[in-house]
Amino acid sequence: MPEAPLSHDPALDPSPAELLAARPNLRQHAMDGLLLDGVPLNAIVDAVGTPTWVYSATTLRQRYQALIRALADANIDAHAHYAVKANDHLAILATLAREGAGADVVSEGELRRALKAGIPANRIVYSGVGKSPRELRFALRENIGQINVESAEELAMLSAIATAEDKTARIALRVNPDVAAGGHDKISTGRATDKFGIAYDQAAALYAHAAGLPGIEPVGIATHIGSQILDLAPFRDAYSRIAELVRTIRAQGHRVETVDCGGGLGIPYKDEAAPSPAGLAATIKGAFHNLDVRIALEPGRWLVGPAGLLLASVVLSKQTQAARFVVLDAAMNDLVRPAMYGAWHGILPVSAIDATAPLSAADVVGPVCESGDTFARSRLLPPLAPGARVAILDSGAYGAVMSSAYNARPRAAEVMVDGDAWTVIRARQTHEDLWTGEVVPIP
Ligand code: LLP
Repeated sequence: MPEAPLSHDPALDPSPAELLAARPNLRQHAMDGLLLDGVPLNAIVDAVGTPTWVYSATTLRQRYQALIRALADANIDAHAHYAVKANDHLAILATLAREGAGADVVSEGELRRALKAGIPANRIVYSGVGKSPRELRFALRENIGQINVESAEELAMLSAIATAEDKTARIALRVNPDVAAGGHDKISTGRATDKFGIAYDQAAALYAHAAGLPGIEPVGIATHIGSQILDLAPFRDAYSRIAELVRTIRAQGHRVETVDCGGGLGIPYKDEAAPSPAGLAATIKGAFHNLDVRIALEPGRWLVGPAGLLLASVVLSKQTQAARFVVLDAAMNDLVRPAMYGAWHGILPVSAIDATAPLSAADVVGPVCESGDTFARSRLLPPLAPGARVAILDSGAYGAVMSSAYNARPRAAEVMVDGDAWTVIRARQTHEDLWTGEVVPIP
């Protein structure tokens, strides 16, 4: 993955000033310290404590509109279906719904959340390699816009359920284009060896078969090749294969109305060069411009990643022979991306005084009993006394949604900032919450 393993050469990392300069929603105030939009993060910590996730509603709206504008500027007839898995909080979904976003869901739970947040059913597509009969039935009853079918087996199951429910399922076939996209092995999905999608060579025949099945109306092709992709070339390769497939299916006399191009657009966590929505739009246009298809996209990370950060406090710093360890009250149970993918996240001090103190290298870790509970290695940071606060950047996507209560650590609070106002959008879990529902059998 371009998010290289945890860095060991701090000189290669962007400085705090460079991290700030690249993030227009953040700035350092000489008195108030780090601000997200108009809100001093210290004020949030004073009221809510740490660890706490903070999201910028403005950033979310701006990014959604920038994406839509890029597609419109390229004259692409497109709908954006936000990939709910990136951050499924109702406030995030409702903010995007108000901007006109649809949703890409992968479970009954995500589908219920999207509906609850006000995303219209006909703007929802359902992806996933293992939708259960119960989930398919629920999706049909809610009359969602499209189900992306991932196998011949699922197609047969859906046909039977739709027939029994007296419904017609609008489906796209999710095709595996056998393209290796630059992302991390664990989140690459478009290679023939991955579990996802229908083999490219079988797709046209299955489409024809689907057209003859009761309860099924094939409307298009879908693909999704991976996540955190920082290079347009794999998109270009995948989309040109999909365009060729659309031509083949049409030549066989079938209708293809829509192509769902999936998600995957990466963001610069460090200082990587990342493709823009305009670049992605040009790539889509290049592949599909003469096909007269409606385009769907399933962006997750690009929309919500840079809109969020994780606030944590320093418990203590310890010096060993090997390193200075800054131990935070946030851990891998909160933000698992560094432990799971070796992901790099920027870390900034929150207080104005810390922001001007001299920097030296430190390993930033959590209190969980695993060495993998490491947010950063050899990171240039100020001294950071116990109680000092830091912000772990770009954690709006695949942050809170992937958190757990490992080590019996209650889930962190969540806050949404809008201009200079802010709201607690999820209270911190209590310890009692953690054992609610547990039963101890009487001996
Ligand atoms: N559509 C489908 C079918 C997907 O599987 C995904 C992500 C997306 C859209 C959204 O992709 P995005 O635009 O966010 O790249 N937990 C990992 C990422 C897993 C992505 C899974 N699928 C991480 O933290 O990097």
